[in-house]
Amino acid sequence: MQNKITVFDIDSYNRINEARGKWLNKALDDIPICDSLKTALDVACGAGYFSKVLARRGLETTGIDLRSNNIETCKERYPELHFYQMNLDEEFDEPGSFDLVLMFGVLYHLQSPLKSILRLAASIGRVGIVETRVAPGNSMAYYLFEELLGDCHNTAPVTEVPTLAAIVGIFRHAGFEYIYRPTYQPEHEEWEQLKNGQRHCFIVSREAINVPLWQRMTIPKFNKKWEPVLVPKYI
Ligand SMILES: C[S@@+](CC[C@H](N)C(=O)[O-])C[C@H]1O[C@@H](n2cnc3c(N)ncnc32)[C@H](O)[C@@H]1O
Repeated sequence: MQNKITVFDIDSYNRINEARGKWLNKALDDIPICDSLKTALDVACGAGYFSKVLARRGLETTGIDLRSNNIETCKERYPELHFYQMNLDEEFDEPGSFDLVLMFGVLYHLQSPLKSILRLAASIGRVGIVETRVAPGNSMAYYLFEELLGDCHNTAPVTEVPTLAAIVGIFRHAGFEYIYRPTYQPEHEEWEQLKNGQRHCFIVSREAINVPLWQRMTIPKFNKKWEPVLVPKYI
């Protein structure tokens, strides 16, 4: 029984959760090593919707989030799972190592995605599954955006939002040689519109994962100092 209604319960959130949930379950079904994954970390878990999706798959799941009220909601809704507060923008002790790390809807809310992902990388034991909005363009760049206010946002006033090429570059730099973008993506308009804030789902891994509909993403080279270059378009 849910006693407290949050921003994560409004209709538009339910709709995008349904699309992402279907996609996530299909991606998990497709991972050949899925049965060997035992533990999961849900990074920036919000009200815990995807923590529960992972737990239903048999994964021992922990959720972390910046906001104490989100953590309280998670604990009320899913007392059988583990949740605690953590700010990815600050120095943090590694939350431990997990076979699967889910990073849904968070990378465009951070003050320094490069720093946060480098620290978080140690926790990604086998695979990371990412869903994120990206800044426009095919150069390896960050945009500074004013952060919105509310329980599904950071508390920092300004955040750095990477382009898709920049995010892929960061994960490569963090040690993930294999980055895949499944040709199937969630069925929702935010994955279709080719504009600022388009969403993408992809998988990062240190080992090759061969799935027919997963396309390995080209890893762009970092810009040489004062010679920014355009990188190949992904889609
Ligand atoms: C758009 S919501 C996504 C929630 C959930 N992962 C989902 O996809 O539905 C972004 C979440 O990131 C959390 N968040 C924002 N900045 C954070 C930070 N610096 N460290 C940890 N969590 C953060 C927010 O509290 C919020 O729960």
